[in-house]
Amino acid sequence: MIERISLTDIKEVLEVINTSNREAFRTIIPKKYFLDPVLSTKQFIKEFERYDFFSYKIREKIVGIAALEIKNTTGIINWVYVQPKWQRKGIGTSLVKYLEKKAKKSGLNNIQLVTIEKAEVAISFYKKLGYRSVRHMEREWGLDVVMMKEL
Ligand SMILES: CC(C)(COP(=O)(O)OP(=O)(O)OC[C@H]1O[C@@H](n2cnc3c(N)ncnc32)[C@H](O)[C@@H]1OP(=O)(O)O)[C@@H](O)C(=O)NCCC(=O)NCCS
Repeated sequence: MIERISLTDIKEVLEVINTSNREAFRTIIPKKYFLDPVLSTKQFIKEFERYDFFSYKIREKIVGIAALEIKNTTGIINWVYVQPKWQRKGIGTSLVKYLEKKAKKSGLNNIQLVTIEKAEVAISFYKKLGYRSVRHMEREWGLDVVMMKEL
């Protein structure tokens, strides 16, 4: 069900990321800073060089995405998005746990990620997975939170 994304999946991947981002952040991020789409094809190709992207498929259709970057001893998680109608079914949890296993196998000892302080769903999602807030960063749109988990 979880597999590595290839560049041929790009259209489906962008659809999941951009739809989920719109639903989740449209009312959280001030209009001036809200990007829709949050990711273009060109930007995705750049991100694809940096991160290992994985998809969660149901009946051959991509319904969730998550990406991992391996940086020295730290793993960076990003682009965790589940299609709105498939949310709250454990898909996000499966994807993040999958990345954690990969990171551990690669010898990493912790994982970090950044989210928005006002994104209560994302924060409770990561807290349930054992992540804790380690610092805040001031941005034009408000506060970002860095979260971390020891593996
Ligand atoms: C955050 C997100 C990836 C979670 O994916 P998901 O598949 O819906 O999450 P899960 O079903 O694995 O949920 C695990 C736990 O997270 C928390 N959670 C998930 N959705 C929640 C919601 N809408 N409200 C409150 N808590 C929520 C709950 O503790 C949940 O456990 P429970 O269902 O037993 O109560 C998904 O909501 C999403 O794509 N959001 C938009 C993008 C985003 O915020 N990405 C992460 C930060 S960039």
